[in-house]
Amino acid sequence: MTELEYIKVERDGFVATVTINRPDKLNALSSQVVKELHLAFHQLCFPSEGERPRAVILTGAGEKAFVAGADIAEMSTMTSAQAKAFADQGHRLGALMETAPFVVLAAVNGFALGGGCELALACDFIYASDKAKFSQPEVNLGVIPGFGGTQRLVRRIGVGLARELIYTGDMISADEALRIGLVNKVFPADQLLPKTRETADKVAAKGPVAIAAAKRAILRGMDQDLVNANELEAAEFAVLFGTEDQAEGMKAFVEKRKAEFKGR
Ligand code: COA
Repeated sequence: MTELEYIKVERDGFVATVTINRPDKLNALSSQVVKELHLAFHQLCFPSEGERPRAVILTGAGEKAFVAGADIAEMSTMTSAQAKAFADQGHRLGALMETAPFVVLAAVNGFALGGGCELALACDFIYASDKAKFSQPEVNLGVIPGFGGTQRLVRRIGVGLARELIYTGDMISADEALRIGLVNKVFPADQLLPKTRETADKVAAKGPVAIAAAKRAILRGMDQDLVNANELEAAEFAVLFGTEDQAEGMKAFVEKRKAEFKGR
């Protein structure tokens, strides 16, 4: 793994933890941080040696913030062209995380504001500490979300609630985020990482080829009509029947033992 200044990547078995490590600026996303995050996820997707992880946890360093947004100091002097390039950079990162062939779990340990909320939304799902706070406060700065917030938040919580959060810039608690379906589970702060790890271990023990297919089917099917989306699912389902993992998974069931998936 290339040396990174703001991103820490730790690997333990089939689970990797990616930590955004810029706590003095509440892990704000400068273009350098976004670039390093992209590099980290790219290297996890295409490792130069060894196997790729089967689950990745994304979290923030320090007790206060997951990510307190895009770097406002850096954005304050951007031209429209630079802003477009920055938004494109954020969108490429979101797309990489969403299409990665492993599950990406957000462990939101504190503020997830603006780009922080958008980064969490590009993860497969979100677990949060009871100290977490979420918002899309960009309108306070005279701009709108630029890393997918107007799109992924609508898809996650519905258009009415997304409009309310984006137009008011209101900050909501972890419990409120749970109630509206933005986060899947809330844990006491000291339990967040162990509990997220439990789920990461659980998904990492499943068939990796199947998990990647499920990710693709959900992502690509979400914006299609049901007939086409189900066609897509059927195609993904069928392809799995030529894999070693499918043969092993079903053989293990018949032999009443635990499957040993190879990711092939
Ligand atoms: N961009 C750049 N720097 C940021 C930042 C951001 N989004 N969020 C926090 N920081 C920096 C602060 O400028 C400060 O740096 P300094 O110590 O060099 O002055 C440091 O992080 C600590 O933040 P501070 O504001 O002192 O902490 P706080 O506890 O008083 O307030 C927040 C916490 C999250 C409420 C406040 O930092 C905030 O409102 N941040 C911006 C949130 C935002 O609008 N995000 C969306 C951007 S599109």
